[in-house]
Amino acid sequence: MSVGIDEISFYTSNYFLDLRSLARAQQTDPDKYYVGIGQEKMGMAAPDEDIVTMAANAALPLVDTVGSERISTLLFATETGIDQSKAAGIYVHRLLGLGANCRVVELKQACYSATAAVQMACALVARQPEQKVLVVASDIARYDLDTPGEATQGCGAVAMMISANPRLVEIAPEVGNYTEDVMDFWRPNYRSTALVDGKYSTKIYLKSLKKAWENFREASSLTFGDFSHFCYHLPFGRMAQKAHQQLARVNKSELGAEQLEQQIEASLQYNRIIGNSYTASMYIGLASLLENSSHDLAGQRIGFFSYGSGCVAEFFSGRVVEGYERHLYRDAHRRMLEARQEVSYDEYLALYRYPDPRDGEHLDIPASTTGRFRLAAISHHKREYVVC
Ligand code: HMG
Repeated sequence: MSVGIDEISFYTSNYFLDLRSLARAQQTDPDKYYVGIGQEKMGMAAPDEDIVTMAANAALPLVDTVGSERISTLLFATETGIDQSKAAGIYVHRLLGLGANCRVVELKQACYSATAAVQMACALVARQPEQKVLVVASDIARYDLDTPGEATQGCGAVAMMISANPRLVEIAPEVGNYTEDVMDFWRPNYRSTALVDGKYSTKIYLKSLKKAWENFREASSLTFGDFSHFCYHLPFGRMAQKAHQQLARVNKSELGAEQLEQQIEASLQYNRIIGNSYTASMYIGLASLLENSSHDLAGQRIGFFSYGSGCVAEFFSGRVVEGYERHLYRDAHRRMLEARQEVSYDEYLALYRYPDPRDGEHLDIPASTTGRFRLAAISHHKREYVVC
């Protein structure tokens, strides 16, 4: 029996800022973003969207397919927590009408926790193959204005159904891990934006890749040449390109620059126009690869590098299942991305500065998302979600 990803669906806000508008406002060359970091647009959450509404939107098609009563566990990965105690997934559980016997828990370790959720889900399914475990990862990436991180913001959520004999990607049990206590990126509880030592974070990302790969090689007989494609954690596209070139060098690969680029290009396409979605980003990269690759991926092996600042990293592998194309949400994803609305720089600032609903005061939030779920109000410190 194999275990892995049976379905994958993602969601991002209907608003985006083109990084050319940001460059104009900052009097910077737009190529710094379009070429230098490999990003074109960044998603901006609407005032009535948060990690809960995005996650519910991402998961809805999967729940409709499988049936809400069949889901035994919901694992919610995020680093944009809305409550120190209550798991955000419990709101999602209600919005999606999941059964009362479904367990729900929230996981945190920066951008890595979605991978912890996937591995835990695989372990649960391996133990009880009739189980369907729903993994959601949802984040809003926010940095201070006028900082180098500003251009790497974004928002999005991904939902994956983990099951036995999956129809998309079988996940192999062998993994390589690397953990080190570093301060490359962090967000203390009293802040709504992350603090980051940008250049240092890119160095630690690359170091962790090397170390996780070495550990993976101790556990697995697979070599660099066994993989046709790779999905990296995607804070911005150029980071994945640098990482992949480094991994090829470490392995003394004879592939040329163009061949190396082909191994990751399809995985970068959605992220380039959504931006960093933290926990969701590598898995939106997987959806991008499966939905945009010009080659048939059936039977091919994918290498995954998941990285979460602070830091924990993991390298693992998956094999694409025959017939996978029939089980993708490609058209729905493309329609959603094409229907998005560009905002001006001033509108972006207004979205960025929208009153922080975590301040506890009563807040009625006007409707603006085009998604199915919205955060309508905060009242008596309680978040009120509605189905549109
Ligand atoms: P910066 O320091 O302002 O940018 O911000 P830069 O000056 O290094 O320029 C970036 C690249 O653009 C450089 O290329 C420039 O040469 C090039 P490189 O040397 O890297 O190859 N460039 C141009 N190219 C063409 N035309 C031009 C031009 N100008 C410059 N005119 C930095 C970069 C990454 C520091 C910033 O975006 C940042 O702080 N981002 C946030 C942190 C981040 O994303 N780190 C990534 C690793 S950590 C991670 O992935 C975890 C994370 O997702 C969080 C989590 O785990 O929860 C962040």
